[in-house]
Amino acid sequence: MNMTLPRNVLQLRKVFAQLSAVLLLTLTQKSVSTSAAMACGVSVDPPASIEITDPGKLGYLTIHWTPPVSLQNLTDCKIRYQLGYYDTYEDRWKIVRTPKLSYSAQFDLEKPIKIRIVTLMKCTCTNGTEVQGEEAERVFTPDLTGVEGSRIRDFHCVFYKKEYMDCIWESGHVQPPNTKHYLYYWHMEMNEIQECPEYIVLSDVRRGCRFPRQSLLEFSNFNMCVNGSSAAGSLTTAFFSLEVQNYVKPEVISSIRISETDALLKLDWVPPSGLVPEQCLEYEVESNIRMTDGREQQHRKPLEETSYDFPKEGESKSTCFRVRSKMNTYCADQGFWSDWSQMKCTASEKETLYIPAWGRLILVLVIGVVIVFVVCITLWNLKKTCIKNTRKKDGIYTLYKQKINENIPTILSPMFQ
Ligand SMILES: *[C@@H]1O[C@H](CO)[C@@H](O)[C@H](O)[C@H]1NC(C)=O
Ligand SMILES: *[C@@H]1O[C@H](CO)[C@@H](O)[C@H](O)[C@H]1NC(C)=O
Ligand SMILES: *[C@@H]1O[C@H](CO)[C@@H](O)[C@H](O)[C@H]1NC(C)=O
Repeated sequence: MNMTLPRNVLQLRKVFAQLSAVLLLTLTQKSVSTSAAMACGVSVDPPASIEITDPGKLGYLTIHWTPPVSLQNLTDCKIRYQLGYYDTYEDRWKIVRTPKLSYSAQFDLEKPIKIRIVTLMKCTCTNGTEVQGEEAERVFTPDLTGVEGSRIRDFHCVFYKKEYMDCIWESGHVQPPNTKHYLYYWHMEMNEIQECPEYIVLSDVRRGCRFPRQSLLEFSNFNMCVNGSSAAGSLTTAFFSLEVQNYVKPEVISSIRISETDALLKLDWVPPSGLVPEQCLEYEVESNIRMTDGREQQHRKPLEETSYDFPKEGESKSTCFRVRSKMNTYCADQGFWSDWSQMKCTASEKETLYIPAWGRLILVLVIGVVIVFVVCITLWNLKKTCIKNTRKKDGIYTLYKQKINENIPTILSPMFQ
C-alpha cells in the first residue's frame, strides 16, 4: 500500500501574509485506514497530498488533493472523490462527490476542521460498478493565539428593515488596558476582506459594527472576524459566518385601522416601512378583550395577510389590538419579530386624556389668567357706561367711584381713576 502522505499538509500560502498572528492550522491526526479495497488488481487508495488552503476569507477554505499513485497507470477508468466534512454550523457531516481535485466550503476557524475523503473508481475491469476505496480522515486544528479570555462575547446581528445590519458584541472576560477591537468581513462578491464600514462606539469603546445595505450579500456566507490589540498583546480572534437574510427585523407597524360592523371588528394595516418585500412578511395579531364583568381575554393569531376579521364578543366592553411582523418561511429560514405596534382599541374604549402634572399646573394658570381678564373687561365696560351717565349725574358718579374703590382690589383701582 502506498501511504506516502506528508505529515503536515497545510499550505500556508496567504496565511502567513494575512493571519500569521491569528491562525495556524495544524494537522493533528493521521489517516484512519479501513481494510484495503482492491479492484482490477490494484488497491483503491485515498487521494494523496490532502491540503487545506486559507485564502484569507475568514473561513472559506479550499481543500485540495491529488489522485492516488496506485491508480495512475489505469486506463478506461472514471475516478471520482467523495468528500465528507463536518459542518460545525449545522453540527453534521456533509458529503459531496466530485471528479475535481479541490472543493471549497465554509468552516469555523475556531473549531477543528474534520475531513474524510474516499476514492471512487468505475472501470471496464470493475464490470461497470463503482468501487469505493478506503477512507482517509484528517483533522486540522486552527491554532488560535491571543491573550487568554480576551475573545469577545455575545456577538449578535440584526438586519433592521433590510436597510442596515448592526452586529454588537461585549468585551471578553479579560480586557487588558488599551484594548481596541477590529472587525473584518468578507462575502463572495468581494475580492478581499475589508474593515468595518462604521463602528458602533459606546462610551469611547467599539461595541459593534453597522453595515449599510450595499455592503451586504444575501443567500451567501457573510463572514466576519473580530480581533483586537491591547497593551498585553493581540486579543483572541472570534470568527462568525451567517446568511444575512436570516437576521431581518421588520420595522414596527404604525397604521392600524379598526372598523366595526354589527357582528365584526375589522382590523387592517399597511405593511411596515423598510425594504422587506410585502410577500416576505407574516403577521401576528394580539387581541385583548375586556369583558363587562372585568375579566380579560388575550388571543394571538398568526396571519399572512394585512387584515383580520374579529367576531364581536357579546359581553365585551372593549377590545384592543396590536400587531407585529416577521420574515416568513418563503423568504428566510428564520428572522426576528418586529416590536409590537401601539395598542389600538375599539371606539367604545374611551381614550382618557392624559395630562401630566406640569400640564395641569399650566392649565390652572391659563384658566386663572382668562378669568381675571374677563373680569377686567367687564368692569372696564361697566366703567365706560358709568362715565357716560355721570356727565349728567356727577354726584352719582362720585358716589359710584367711591363704592368701586371700596369693592375692587387695589391692584385694579388705577383703571377706575
Ligand atoms: C506505472 O507505470 C510506470 C511505468 O510503466 C511504472 O514505473 C510505475 O511503477 C507504475 N506505477 C504503479 C503504481 O504501478
Ligand atoms: C467482473 O465480472 C467477472 C465475470 O463475471 C468476474 O469474474 C469478476 O470478478 C468481476 N469483477 C468485479 C470487480 O466485480
Ligand atoms: C485582525 O485581522 C485582520 C485580518 O486578518 C488583520 O489584518 C489585522 O492585522 C488583525 N489585527 C490584529 C490587531 O490582530
